[in-house]
Amino acid sequence: MASLIINGGRRLCGAVDVQGAKNSALPIMAASLLVRGETVLQNCPDISDVDAAMRILRHLGCTAERIGSTLYLDTGQMTGCRIPDGLMREMRSSVVFLGAILARTGEAVLSLPGGCELGPRPIDLHLSALRALGMEIAESGGSIVCKAREPRGCRIDLAIPSVGATENSMLAAFSCVGETVITNAAREPEICDLARYLRAAGAEICGEGTSVITVRRGRPSGRVLHTVIPDRIAAATYLSAVASAGGAGEIRNICPEHIRPVTDALERMGCRIRKEPTAVSILAEGRLCSAGTVTTAPYPGFPTDAQPPLMAACIKCCGMTVFVETMFENRFRHAGELRRMGADIRKEGRVAIVTGVPMLHGAPVEASDLRGGAALAVAALGAEGKSEITGLQHVLRGYEDIASDLRKLGAEIYER
Ligand code: EPZ
Repeated sequence: MASLIINGGRRLCGAVDVQGAKNSALPIMAASLLVRGETVLQNCPDISDVDAAMRILRHLGCTAERIGSTLYLDTGQMTGCRIPDGLMREMRSSVVFLGAILARTGEAVLSLPGGCELGPRPIDLHLSALRALGMEIAESGGSIVCKAREPRGCRIDLAIPSVGATENSMLAAFSCVGETVITNAAREPEICDLARYLRAAGAEICGEGTSVITVRRGRPSGRVLHTVIPDRIAAATYLSAVASAGGAGEIRNICPEHIRPVTDALERMGCRIRKEPTAVSILAEGRLCSAGTVTTAPYPGFPTDAQPPLMAACIKCCGMTVFVETMFENRFRHAGELRRMGADIRKEGRVAIVTGVPMLHGAPVEASDLRGGAALAVAALGAEGKSEITGLQHVLRGYEDIASDLRKLGAEIYER
């Protein structure tokens, strides 16, 4: 499998345009089933998770083609309602197809998505929301068999502001008679992007971005043209890269408001941040200082997906940075690999304590999950000498071309 070779210890200087958001494109691709016609999806990232979602759509009898950063989807001829185990396992978030398939066909058969490197990934909130909407759901032998029995809009109170459960509720409610009110809904920008798409697809939706989202049945519009929002986590990754290596960088085609908790942390570390309407510039001079305590939380809190790259940017800072990971129980796996570069990180359950060291050295390291792999690249840029990062397949799930993007920022990096 390919690996990344990085010659670190050099200041960065450059500019990069950020890709479209993986976590927006995926639920919108599922939602395209509700259009019963064509979706033209612009600014869609060319990543393996999107490829997997295209394979799911084709398996369901739809067409899915890519020309550059635009996907051309047509779900008018959808024939199936079953996603086989192999396709489900290719992508953790394939469960978001459940609500869309049910809303379109009235039945769905999927295998239970397995856990992943971040820990167990339960879907109990998804299933209880769908049952509340009138879906009959049977779990047997690792599969879930769902049937819509007179689906009707209702109130769904989410115990956790789960992104996926909010998305599945919005998708399933698209075809329900009456009004659905989702409380304690996730507020992420990707939820707002999905709501914009569903409105264009014919749904009546309001409240997205707040904790209460209301959905009324849509009349399929037959064709939607949509542009995916920028990937805020990729933006956070590249800002962290400049902080790690030192230097100056301009991260373009982003929404600065979407990553406010990340730029706040970088400013606490001593980086100079300049925000423009669709870009953020960062200047990192000299040895940075601690970010203090970084606690992950649902949006608009500090994003869990940005925890690994920011941790990588903190390992050479003077002082101690404490990371509290509230979202997933196993999201510090990158710490062990960072220690191979000389980092001083102590893990205690969901807390990781980073004590800054004056220097890191390049080392062979292995990625075990998407954002942890990105963190290894961020750290390698700030480490003296050569690093080789294997397990690149994890990183390619969410970053179009991390080597090319980091080269645009001045990094000496290539894929082998
Ligand atoms: C989405 O995952 C993102 N993935 C994740 O990004 C992100 O880390 C996560 O939201 C949190 O922001 C996509 O959008 C494709 P959740 P999701 O449901 O929807 C618990 C990346 O790196 N929970 O908001 O799976 C769950 O265990 C990925 O791009 C239940 O208990 O996350 C977790 O502790 C990683 N029961 C918490 O809620 C449920 O039914 C938040 O999970 C569902 C979730």
